[in-house]
Amino acid sequence: MTDRMRRAVVVGNSDGIGLAFTRRLLADGWLVTGLSRRDNAIAVPTYAHHTVDVTAADYPRVLGRAIDELGGVDLCVYAAGIGEPVDPTDLDAQTRTFEVNLMGAVRTAAVVVPRMLADGDGHLIGISSLADRLISAEAPGYAGSKAGLSSYFMGLSAALRRHGVHVTTVRFGFVDTKMAKGAFRPLMIPVDRAVEVLAHCVRNRPVCVSRPRRMALLAATLAPLTHTR
Ligand SMILES: NC(=O)c1ccc[n+]([C@@H]2O[C@H](COP(=O)([O-])OP(=O)(O)OC[C@H]3O[C@@H](n4cnc5c(N)ncnc54)[C@H](OP(=O)(O)O)[C@@H]3O)[C@@H](O)[C@H]2O)c1
Repeated sequence: MTDRMRRAVVVGNSDGIGLAFTRRLLADGWLVTGLSRRDNAIAVPTYAHHTVDVTAADYPRVLGRAIDELGGVDLCVYAAGIGEPVDPTDLDAQTRTFEVNLMGAVRTAAVVVPRMLADGDGHLIGISSLADRLISAEAPGYAGSKAGLSSYFMGLSAALRRHGVHVTTVRFGFVDTKMAKGAFRPLMIPVDRAVEVLAHCVRNRPVCVSRPRRMALLAATLAPLTHTR
């Protein structure tokens, strides 16, 4: 154990859960670098921001450079995400949802995991959703992208654990951010609660966490019904 500051990268932190968790990491004494299309208002010496779109061709290069400037990465949280209702006559928004929610996370792992393997230690957290087991007629790209994310990150967890690299999938129900904009938001939790869940994950490095528990139970019960409609 060294006494250097712990180094975290948060992808998707101009708003919502990513922004709130960035503030928490800084308060806990981490050195943090954030990436998103927009800047955020954080102005402290222990924070740096890079404006980039995770779907851009040069995103892996920007992320790699950001990690080099940080001096390495102990923790990476992938919090970037979008969710759009389907327009059956124009599936572009669904395609983009896969590019941000799934391929952005896949490309992030491809940059951070080799660095963590070289260090023999590291923790990658992907923010997924309890929608990952639902078949959704309303937002099929969101449910599908989260299904891919959960499956990929849980597989990576199994592949990497023996090498000292931990991967956590966090499956949230509704969290009170601008993303949860629909009228139906049962058992929604405040952002502060989501931040506590992530802080617990940083301490304990679990494979998968589903919160809130009652919503996870509800989603697991309802999921088979969505498979047959
Ligand atoms: N809120 C919920 O109810 C809920 C439930 C389950 C899971 N989640 C998941 O939690 C994560 C965070 O969501 P949130 O509720 O905090 O949403 P949010 O408030 O809308 O924040 C989303 C973040 O993702 C970033 N982002 C979006 N597209 C991006 C892109 N192309 N490139 C880089 N960054 C991008 C946004 O920054 P820019 O716009 O500046 O790029 C923003 O900082 C998402 O993966 C979401 O699916 C949310």
